[in-house]
Amino acid sequence: MTERIVLAYSGGLDTSVAIGWIGEATGAEVIAVAVDVGQGGESLETIRQRALGCGAVEAYVADASDEFANEYCMPTLKANGLYQGHYPLVSAISRPVIVKHLVKAAREFGATTVAHGCTGKGNDQVRFEVGIQTLGPDLKCIAPVRDLALTRDKAIAFAEEKGLPIETTKKNPYSIDQNVWGRAVETGYLEDIWNAPTKDIYDYTATPEFPPAPDEVVISFEAGVPVAIDGVKVTPLQAIKELNRRAGAQGVGRIDVVEDRLVGIKSREVYEAPGAMALITAHKHLEDITVEREQARFKATVGQRWSELVYDGQWFSPLKRSLDAFIEDTQKYVTGDIRMTLHGGQAIVNGRRSDTSLYDFNLATYDTGDTFDQSMARGFIELWGMSAKVASGRDIRVAGQ
Ligand code: ARG
Repeated sequence: MTERIVLAYSGGLDTSVAIGWIGEATGAEVIAVAVDVGQGGESLETIRQRALGCGAVEAYVADASDEFANEYCMPTLKANGLYQGHYPLVSAISRPVIVKHLVKAAREFGATTVAHGCTGKGNDQVRFEVGIQTLGPDLKCIAPVRDLALTRDKAIAFAEEKGLPIETTKKNPYSIDQNVWGRAVETGYLEDIWNAPTKDIYDYTATPEFPPAPDEVVISFEAGVPVAIDGVKVTPLQAIKELNRRAGAQGVGRIDVVEDRLVGIKSREVYEAPGAMALITAHKHLEDITVEREQARFKATVGQRWSELVYDGQWFSPLKRSLDAFIEDTQKYVTGDIRMTLHGGQAIVNGRRSDTSLYDFNLATYDTGDTFDQSMARGFIELWGMSAKVASGRDIRVAGQ
């Protein structure tokens, strides 16, 4: 039987050419796999037809947008997942869901190998291949751009020579990856890290310098997950989309950073994630009133480690799973409403309420109604500082000898 390869297919030039390119280089039949993670653009049917037109023997298309929102974006929200404190892991969390479908398609169509269109310089190759190794240890991986010398020039020449049904003239100067959680833009003009991004690179966000009137929104959460916006029930996917629209219109969630790739390269990235950033901000503020102090402090460390693991392609690792269990436990009481104003590039929280809040008005107040016994503070401070005081006494004694 002819060998079969499943290819992670985006519908773009490189992966369209890869179908025939892989076929010629390996003699295998190629099955194109397209996964909708809320990236917008062309319909899955259009993409499927193009894959078949480019020589795929089968096309597997999956609408995974709810799956992605529920099982990938929501855990990221619960973790307040921001790599290096900035990047909401947009591409990093989409790879594992694509991997799941690649492995599923490989099983369905009897493929032995999985192919993806990543280069040899980025994180995404690692995420795809580590994920595939974990979920399908018997499957091999190839990357035509990296392993079969498929360069952009060759791709254009190949597409023209074979008359493939794909546009070759439109030259996008940037490498873009997008899904419902956000959008990543890199390369080209942005590689000079002194160059400010030009307006044309943004798509999910409007320029924050000229915002429309402020937009006040109330986001209701249950156990860390958004369940209503302005009182209207929403699914996680709907919540993200609605906030992409409203926070995007206010220019919320633009991020311009130089980040540390797993492969050791520092790279300039411009992101826009209006919905994700608005949700993370709201979620964090709700945690501030519902999560106990020590648990909250420790969770910040766990969230950071979680983000590094996910960035580094360890979505399916045991440590990531254990951290998920911790994070999930902290979300039990993260239920309530956050009111925030979206305006001029910012999402600012100005109200919070929760039936499971730890905020005690009577403890906090400086007005009448105060139930806090201030006389307890003296002794507490004496003991709290005791250890450092004893040590400093020793320092003075030793210095004087
Ligand atoms: N640097 C980000 C990451 O590794 C985004 C990568 C996006 N990929 C792309 N082809 N633009 O998660």
